[in-house]
Amino acid sequence: MAENTSGYRGVRRRPFLLLGAGCAVLGLVLGIIIGYFAIPQSGTPWSAALTQEGDPSIAARLQREVTPSNIRDNLRELTARPHIAGKEMDLGVARLLRDRWLEYGLDSARLVPYDVLLAYPSREPDRPSRVSLLEPDGTVVVESQQQEAGVDDPEAEPPFNAYSASGEVQGELVYVNFARAEDFQTLVRDLRVDVTGKICIARYGEIFRGDKVKQASQYGCAGLILYSDPEQCVADGMAVWPDGWMMPSTGVQRGTVKLTGDVLTPFYPANEYAYRLRVEDAGLPTIPVHPISYGVAVEILRNMAGAEAPVDWQGGLDITYHLGPGYAGQGSSRTVRLVVNQDREVRTTYNVIGTIRGAVEPDRYVIVGNHHDAWVYGSVDPSSGTAVILELARAMGKLKREGWRPRRTVVFGSWGAEEEGLIGSVEFVEDYIKSLQERTVAYLNCDSAASGNFSLSVAASPLLHNMIRDATKKVPDPHEPSKTLYDTWRTKRPEEEGNPDSRPKINKLGSGSDYAPFFQHAGIAASSMSSDIDPAIGLGGYPLYHSAYETFDLQDRFIDPDWTVHQAVGRLWGQMAVTLADALVLPLDVRDYATAVQQMMDELRQEHGSRLSAQNIGLEHLESAVSNFTRATTTFHQTLESVDKSNPVAVRAVNDRLMKLEGAFIDPLGLPDRPWFRHVAFAPSNVNTYAGQSFPGLADALFDIDRAADQAARWEVVRKQLAVTTFTVQSAANTLVNNLF
Ligand SMILES: *[C@@H]1O[C@H](CO)[C@@H](O)[C@H](O)[C@H]1NC(C)=O
Ligand SMILES: *[C@@H]1O[C@H](CO)[C@@H](O)[C@H](O)[C@H]1NC(C)=O
Ligand SMILES: [Zn+2]
Repeated sequence: MAENTSGYRGVRRRPFLLLGAGCAVLGLVLGIIIGYFAIPQSGTPWSAALTQEGDPSIAARLQREVTPSNIRDNLRELTARPHIAGKEMDLGVARLLRDRWLEYGLDSARLVPYDVLLAYPSREPDRPSRVSLLEPDGTVVVESQQQEAGVDDPEAEPPFNAYSASGEVQGELVYVNFARAEDFQTLVRDLRVDVTGKICIARYGEIFRGDKVKQASQYGCAGLILYSDPEQCVADGMAVWPDGWMMPSTGVQRGTVKLTGDVLTPFYPANEYAYRLRVEDAGLPTIPVHPISYGVAVEILRNMAGAEAPVDWQGGLDITYHLGPGYAGQGSSRTVRLVVNQDREVRTTYNVIGTIRGAVEPDRYVIVGNHHDAWVYGSVDPSSGTAVILELARAMGKLKREGWRPRRTVVFGSWGAEEEGLIGSVEFVEDYIKSLQERTVAYLNCDSAASGNFSLSVAASPLLHNMIRDATKKVPDPHEPSKTLYDTWRTKRPEEEGNPDSRPKINKLGSGSDYAPFFQHAGIAASSMSSDIDPAIGLGGYPLYHSAYETFDLQDRFIDPDWTVHQAVGRLWGQMAVTLADALVLPLDVRDYATAVQQMMDELRQEHGSRLSAQNIGLEHLESAVSNFTRATTTFHQTLESVDKSNPVAVRAVNDRLMKLEGAFIDPLGLPDRPWFRHVAFAPSNVNTYAGQSFPGLADALFDIDRAADQAARWEVVRKQLAVTTFTVQSAANTLVNNLF
């Protein structure tokens, strides 16, 4: 699209290469000269600035600047129109972000394009994707709708599951609960229901929808229907939209079934010279998948034949769930038809990258990021985060105008096409991986800033745990301003249930948002946070997730009417960014990493110890590596506490160790069967991409190994992964040690 010309990735850039190189050298020289003079201008002689502690009043000033009404105005503007990835309206949002960031006084802001494979509902009006219940003569008994009731907006795409195969399948229906690995095991092994060639129907929830497709495909289902069961999206006695924030019977959850960046250019950026796979070789689903509402699902699930589904498979619809296949009684000759028509096209998606250049260490980056594309209006996902990141940029711009410049560079990233598969952030990380690994202190993600008003929910690398806890102690709670976020967070989400002195729980990073490429692929310390709903009401997440009812009103009327939850998230995000950007010694704590690795070791021993020793596989080397790592972290932390802060080389040396520790957990060859995931300590779980899995190389190989068909081969993988894991943990320990040889 036209935007290519304003991106730096111009099509005709090759003839300018030499000129560009010349300019770069000139720029570098100028930069050094300007830098030399710029630092003294900001207040202190540059030699003193090298060892100056950050000004603690900056974060407090930033917090005061973050205003609920600005965030509200931002969200209203961001949700005015649907803005699905790769289309004009999303480019509009990207331009809005760039223009605002420049207006707010960031040093730079630009759009960076990538050409990636995106999926959309087919534009042929006579071939809509749909699910129908049919009489033998073809009469339609019930059929899914093209749009959710009350949504009268030609710009809103109908519900779909991106990257489904297109096609038409018809036949008997089988109910597969959540379509988890264990559900299919129960169904096929224990209950002896044949799913081969059947149309399977699964409820949303528990795991990433793409993992449901993977399971359904492996078990031979001809197609998969996904629906939102009231058990996961309507809490007892609570009103449905538009009278409340529960899912109405016409609501549909959209969503992708792939989460791996641009599928045509794995490992490399989707730029103008990229080598692209053929779509057939891109590992996309081979069966059709389509989402429907529970209003339609109830008609399709009613009167199914076969055994009653197990008690915990019964959902919240007012029927008795049966397994199938097919229907009982009068309707026994009815069938279900699933039609999916999607267009897959290479289109341009845009990241927006803004910077505030660091005064002392401009080559060290603190990155704050979120995506800008939404399935429809996206008032929670992602625009609540985008509304906050805009306000944060404004506040930082104001401080900069008032004379502040961070020690390190703050990078703002607003990623394109996250919803279709973390595409913008993956391409960014793949594009700049060498520099990012060398220079990035941390990546702070915030996708949906507020999906509820219950409490903070955080997932992070252990390296960031302490910094996050400290930051939450400096932000007032949005509802009880006499308390801090930390107080309410640890009461509502304690690490240890029932212990009033417990610290708050911080989860492992899996996948599901843009931190994944930074953490899992590049080995950069990352975190993600949001305010979400009360788990006690028993729903998986916020009910209107990825539906067209995720509108401005949802936030303004139900989730955060006074916008103080958004404000608190913005303050926290800012507090963390400023601390990381300004502190002389990086506030990363290696001791929490040792605690995490020890816990993982204990879990491994408990879960698999006897199984391993029955195979003559000992854990003593891994245990040795873990205890070496623990010892190294203790020693390193002592060094850190006594570092001579007047010596810039000594400070930079400990900071570099801290910054690069995460990367020491990267295995260049990646995990078996999923080499793009390279973090040896943490990966998305292979059976639920959303969840974090510790020691994933071992966990994958050990998964269900007693029932695996290829046991001997699997045990070889276990042996190899045990060695890889041991080596990697020991290597991480080595990076902290001074006298290594
Ligand atoms: C917000 O808080 C109130 C009071 O605790 C609660 O009733 C309501 O359900 C919450 N809303 C959301 C969206 O979490
Ligand atoms: C742990 O450190 C000890 C002492 O340096 C060393 O002998 C041992 O080999 C290390 N363990 C591993 C797994 O490398
Ligand atoms: Zn999102």
